[in-house]
Amino acid sequence: MSDRTGIFAGDDPFEIARRWLTEAEASEVNDPNAIALSTVDAGGMPNVRMVLLKEIEADAFVFYTNYDSRKGQEIEAAGKAAFVLHWKSLHRQIRVRGLVSREDGEKADAYYASRSLKSRLGAWASQQSQPLGSRTELMAEVAKTTAKLGPNPPRPPFWGGFRIRPTEIEFWADGAFRLHDRFRWERVDEKVSWKISRLNP
Ligand SMILES: Cc1cc2nc3c(=O)[nH]c(=O)nc-3n(C[C@H](O)[C@H](O)[C@H](O)COP(=O)(O)O)c2cc1C
Repeated sequence: MSDRTGIFAGDDPFEIARRWLTEAEASEVNDPNAIALSTVDAGGMPNVRMVLLKEIEADAFVFYTNYDSRKGQEIEAAGKAAFVLHWKSLHRQIRVRGLVSREDGEKADAYYASRSLKSRLGAWASQQSQPLGSRTELMAEVAKTTAKLGPNPPRPPFWGGFRIRPTEIEFWADGAFRLHDRFRWERVDEKVSWKISRLNP
C-alpha cells in the first residue's frame, strides 16, 4: 500500500510539480522557477547553469535559450539533460533527467513575442557564450539591432525553447533528523506508465 500522501499525493508527477511550483511562487523571494540545468560536453565533462523554467506541460518541462550557446550545443549533441529545482522556503527539491527536443514553433514565437522589446532585441544582439571584448561592444550591437529590426523583431532562428521529456523525476522534501521523504517516478515505457518508488533519504 502506498504511503504517499499530503504534498506527494497523486500519480501524475507533472501535476505535483505544478502544485509545488505554485506554492513556491507564494513563498520564494524571487525566481521560484529557476532551475539548475545540467548538460554534458563531448568529453563527458558535466556543466551546469541556471535557467528559468517557463512551462510545465502534460509530459514535459520547457525553458528558452540561445541554440548556439554552450548549453544549446551540448544539449543538441547529447539529446539529454538534467535539472534540479530547489526551494529554500519550502525545503523541497525536484530532480529531472530526460530527453530533449527543440520547441521552435508557435509556442516559441508566442513566448518570444511576450517578452519586453529590450529582451527581444537582446536575444538578437547577444552571441550567447561567445567571448565578448567589452560591454560597449555589446551595447553597440544592441543599438545596431534596434535600428535594423525596429519595434517588432521576429524571433531569432537561433533562439527558442527546449522541451525536456523526463525519464525520471524525483520529489524530495525535508524531514526531521535528515530522514527526508523521496519519491521517484521512472518511465517504464514510452507511453504513459510510470514506476513509482519511495527511496531511502
Ligand atoms: C536566475 C537565472 C535565470 C537565468 N535564466 C536563463 C534562461 O532562462 N535562459 C538562458 O539562456 N540563460 C539564463 N540565465 C543565464 C545562464 O545561467 C547562463 O549564464 C547562460 O545561459 C549561458 O550559459 P551557457 O554558456 O552554458 O550556454 C539565467 C541565469 C540566472 C542566474
